[in-house]
Amino acid sequence: MAVLEVLKMGHPLLLQVAQPIERFDDPELDALIKDMFDTMEALSGAGLAAPQIGVSKRLVIFGVTKNARYPDAEEVPATILINPVIQPLRRGTEDDWEGCLSVPGLRGLVPRYTHIRYSGYDEKGQRFEREASGFHARVVQHECDHLDGILYPRRIRDLRMFGFESELLKEEDEGAP
Ligand code: NI
Repeated sequence: MAVLEVLKMGHPLLLQVAQPIERFDDPELDALIKDMFDTMEALSGAGLAAPQIGVSKRLVIFGVTKNARYPDAEEVPATILINPVIQPLRRGTEDDWEGCLSVPGLRGLVPRYTHIRYSGYDEKGQRFEREASGFHARVVQHECDHLDGILYPRRIRDLRMFGFESELLKEEDEGAP
C-alpha cells in the first residue's frame, strides 16, 4: 500500500494539460492506479486525478460508497477512467459545493452540467461509455478538469462562495443558507 503525496494548488504541474495514455494492460499503469486508489481511500477523497500525484497523464479514478467527506452524497461506482471525453446532455448547470484534495480545507460553490455522457478507457484499454447525473456527473467533471490543468476555484462564479470548510460548516449549523 502506497499513499502518495498529493500536490497542492500552486504547484505548476496542476496547471498543465496532461498527456494521453498510450500503453494499456501494463504493470506500470496498474501500479500507478493501485497507488492512486490507496491515496484516495487514505484521504477519504471522492476522486483523484493522476496530475494530483505528480503524473501528468489523462487518468482519473473516482468512487463513493459512504464517505466521511461526503456523508450525504449519492453513491458513485468505483471507476478507472483513462483519456476521458465528456459530453453535456443538457445545457443547464447547477451549483453545488466542492472540495479538492489539492485545495485542502476549502470549499467553493461550483457550477457543473447536471447530465453528461462520458467515455474513455479502462486499464485494459477497453472503451466504455456511461451517462451520469447529479453528484456522479459533478465528480467526473471535477476530476477531468484536473487533466486540463483546471482546479475548481477557477470555476467559482461568485468568490464570496469560497471559503474554509470549518467556517462554512459553522454557518450551516447556525441555520444560514
Ligand atoms: Ni480535485
